[in-house]
Amino acid sequence: MELPARPTLFDFHGVSMTKHFTDNWENTQNFKARPDDILIATYPKSGTTWVCYMLNLLYFGNMSPERQKSVTLNERVPFLELCAPPRPKGKDLADQLPTSPRLIKTHLPVQFVPKSFWEQRCRIVYVAHNSKDTVVSYYHFGRMNSLHPELGDWSTFLQDFMEGKMVFGSWYKHVNSWWEKKQTYSKLHYMFYEDLTEDSGREIDRLCSFLGLFPSAEEKEKVRAAVMFDNMKQNKMVNGSTVQIMNHDVSPFMRKGKVADWKNHFTVSQNERFDEDYKQKMKNPTLHFRTEV
Ligand code: PPS
Repeated sequence: MELPARPTLFDFHGVSMTKHFTDNWENTQNFKARPDDILIATYPKSGTTWVCYMLNLLYFGNMSPERQKSVTLNERVPFLELCAPPRPKGKDLADQLPTSPRLIKTHLPVQFVPKSFWEQRCRIVYVAHNSKDTVVSYYHFGRMNSLHPELGDWSTFLQDFMEGKMVFGSWYKHVNSWWEKKQTYSKLHYMFYEDLTEDSGREIDRLCSFLGLFPSAEEKEKVRAAVMFDNMKQNKMVNGSTVQIMNHDVSPFMRKGKVADWKNHFTVSQNERFDEDYKQKMKNPTLHFRTEV
């Protein structure tokens, strides 16, 4: 299959975006959320797929085992703002979801979330990942994914990340503004990738209590095992191997799944510059990220 030309990044209401996430803007903004819809919101490369799969299994793992084997996770949990023909639009997939609740994924910064999610008081699960591992993961993803703009070498990419010149904009603004939203919107569960790697069982318990789910110990254990990195990496329905715009020979979508891989990428001076800049941008003392576990 011939791959599409890589898109260009442009400023969209103050956020760097590409056409694949803005072309269907009006329709996306007019999405009609239902009260029981669950939105999984993240900055890219924060553990979205991991948590989408977790939720999908918690709700539907027992009910529809055949769906788990024949329908990809991307179809089970549509990516709301995605508009990349010839693939179906994320908004249309979300509209047509046969499940209840509907699980919907987004990378939108909080100010771009369609208003019906707030009006309907939908539950939202936000997953955040420390900046250093996020930028490393994003770099490798950019190399293997032709929907991503052309990218330079690692040091240019790192600089662009610090300046917010990334698809979906600034990581710093994204994690902060969602964190602020949590202070006023009680139906938002803010999770950290690092907590998930530390103790996924504990995080599943927290998720269940937020969602009002009461799985048995056995069911929870089944979910915990299924979402382990090695198991997800083997699972064709969730590991991105069916997505044609990705070249897994360049870098697999399920790449490492570890905290602190940044240490294999940052030079000492890049790390110092990054930390200095981080201090300027991350002033909220209540929002704390761990860069090792
Ligand atoms: S995307 O493209 O934005 O939806 O990517 P996203 O799913 O948010 O993030 C991809 C990174 O998450 C890692 N991942 C996991 N880590 C640990 N355990 C599990 N089960 C798991 N599933 C996905 C994935 O490997 C990417 O991180 P890196 O560091 O690149 O390996």
